[in-house]
Amino acid sequence: MILIDGKKEAALLRAKLKEEVINLKAKYNKVPGLTVILIGNLTPSQIYVRNKEKSANEVGLKSEVIKYPDNIDENIVLEKIKELNTNTAVSGILVQLPLPKHIDKQKVIETIDPLKDVDGFHPMNVGNLSSGYQSSVPCTPLGCYLLIKKIEPDLSGKKAVIIGRSNLNGKPMTQLLLKENCTVTITHSKTRNLKAECLEADIIVAAVGIPELVKGDWVKKDAIVIDVGINKTDKGIVGDVAFDEVSKNAKALTPVPGGVGPMTIACLLKNTIECFKRSQI
Ligand code: GUN
Repeated sequence: MILIDGKKEAALLRAKLKEEVINLKAKYNKVPGLTVILIGNLTPSQIYVRNKEKSANEVGLKSEVIKYPDNIDENIVLEKIKELNTNTAVSGILVQLPLPKHIDKQKVIETIDPLKDVDGFHPMNVGNLSSGYQSSVPCTPLGCYLLIKKIEPDLSGKKAVIIGRSNLNGKPMTQLLLKENCTVTITHSKTRNLKAECLEADIIVAAVGIPELVKGDWVKKDAIVIDVGINKTDKGIVGDVAFDEVSKNAKALTPVPGGVGPMTIACLLKNTIECFKRSQI
């Protein structure tokens, strides 16, 4: 079984990006800039944002975090985003989710200039991705995609089963694998026989938030299994895949932690650099 080392792959990607930033600086005399807006004081969000900032600095990007208290007026956030949209030093804008209830997530996402939308959440990017046009691609599915491609460069005709239909993961993951000529099945909480679906799959991407849902006998030999889950349980953080059982069957499997997580952040940096390059044309 191949244990997919997301930490190592992310470090390789960051090294490549660092090189690219040096070249961009030589060419344009400036570096890409990432601005993250963090509202409230949820601990996981604070940790994610700190890691994003640290990684951005490490590859030589300019990075800024704007923090607001969780009772901030929605208009102040929207006005700040509009200001960042027109600021040429800012290549990418990310508003950390989840947002406090009184703030309209859709309004926030739609206010971000699609060309600076490093999350790929703006409807214009969602539409472009599903039409096969150039777009920002959400960081987590992009990271999963790169890990899958590393194991299996030719995905044409493979059967992929996605567990979870979220805008963040399941839906964009589907688009990426469709583009690779996979036959993609999207499953979710109302799917009737999930085990039978999984047993057909050459590739399984579990992004549903149910601890250790995917069991050893759900997975055929030679399947590539990508675990996007991060679930807090009594025995610590576990993924959506029963790691010990599945590792006995699968061809390749990502661990939790140390699989998809590090790739998500590296892909955010990649997206920021892509946005910068497009803005220079
Ligand atoms: N919260 C959890 N994951 C993400 C992500 O990929 N982007 C943003 N903006 N917020 C998140």
